[in-house]
Amino acid sequence: MQEPIHVLYYNDAGRMDQWQKTLGRMLPSLKLVTADSPDADKADVLMTWNPPNGLIADHHNLKGVISLGQGVDHVLKGKTFPPHLKLARLVDPFMADSMAEWVLLAILEKHRERDAYRDLEKRQEWVQFEQRLAGDYCVAVMGLGAIGSVVAQKAAMMGFRTIGWSRTAKTLSGVDARHGDDGFIACLGEADYLVSILPLTPETTDLYDAGTFARMKPGAVFINSGRGLQVVEDDLIAAIDNGMISAAVLDVTRTEPLPGGHPLWDHPGVTIWPHVSAQTSEISAAPQVVEAIKAIRAGREPENNVDISRGY
Ligand code: NAP
Ligand code: GLV
Repeated sequence: MQEPIHVLYYNDAGRMDQWQKTLGRMLPSLKLVTADSPDADKADVLMTWNPPNGLIADHHNLKGVISLGQGVDHVLKGKTFPPHLKLARLVDPFMADSMAEWVLLAILEKHRERDAYRDLEKRQEWVQFEQRLAGDYCVAVMGLGAIGSVVAQKAAMMGFRTIGWSRTAKTLSGVDARHGDDGFIACLGEADYLVSILPLTPETTDLYDAGTFARMKPGAVFINSGRGLQVVEDDLIAAIDNGMISAAVLDVTRTEPLPGGHPLWDHPGVTIWPHVSAQTSEISAAPQVVEAIKAIRAGREPENNVDISRGY
């Protein structure tokens, strides 16, 4: 009988069986174990999204870590990550498509004045507003990576004038891609819908503060599905209250879950979603997780290897 391949699992306990079943179909000798299992030290790979500090450094047999999300900030930020370990992340087209659905829903609800029509419906009033044309409105996608590039191209396909921002220069069909500080400021000034899908790094932490909101096009809608720590929430609330921007749609917040009584919950200009815009699917992610397990165990670089010095 083949020796079991032990893989340490630190993630949602309720999904462990599903991961075991799905990965086991492709790699029958795989055995997921938790940190309290007597076999935990036999594992040379860890699958996780938000490990407690110490978990990675304490397991001396690890050769690498697989992030069960596209972001790796929870694996790296404030944690000791031994430099000899490999780090793979998910790059799953299903997640990019899911995010595009969510972003387009957020944009279209505002663009087609869903709230105003719902209020009229409640009052049984038949009133027609002048229809807005997509081409008259600009969508800026901040972060043109695996997810943002797909979101931007789908926004462009819907007919919105679409611009975007990344760290390095990019060419994307249908999207006017910018980079650098000038590119950032230009996007702020032009966007009616500013969509942020950036990884959390020291450069993007607190990126959206009072100074940033002041540079945004008056009346713009701010949509964030990157990370909550990129937004200074008091400044966001003040920007909406002062009429600088009109609304925000947030899938991520500085503290998650968003605590009860937090002012974002019932702010009339803010829509809160519980970090669900692009959830990991065991089914679609399994092939790349298996590839990463094999690569890490063999000492090879996994396909979606993360450059730890870059932080994303
Ligand atoms: P990615 O492929 O690594 O792309 C990141 C993009 O951000 C790249 O275009 C990168 O520029 C740009 N970027 C990074 N730092 C920058 C900076 N300082 N200035 C300007 N641009 C910068 O990441 P992804 O897979 O698209 O995912 C992005 C993020 O979405 C994740 O890190 C995670 O935080 C978030 N996410 C959220 C959910 C959710 O459900 N809410 C789900 C999945 C992911 P370059 O192209 O020049 O490198
Ligand atoms: C979700 O937030 C992810 O990083 O995939």
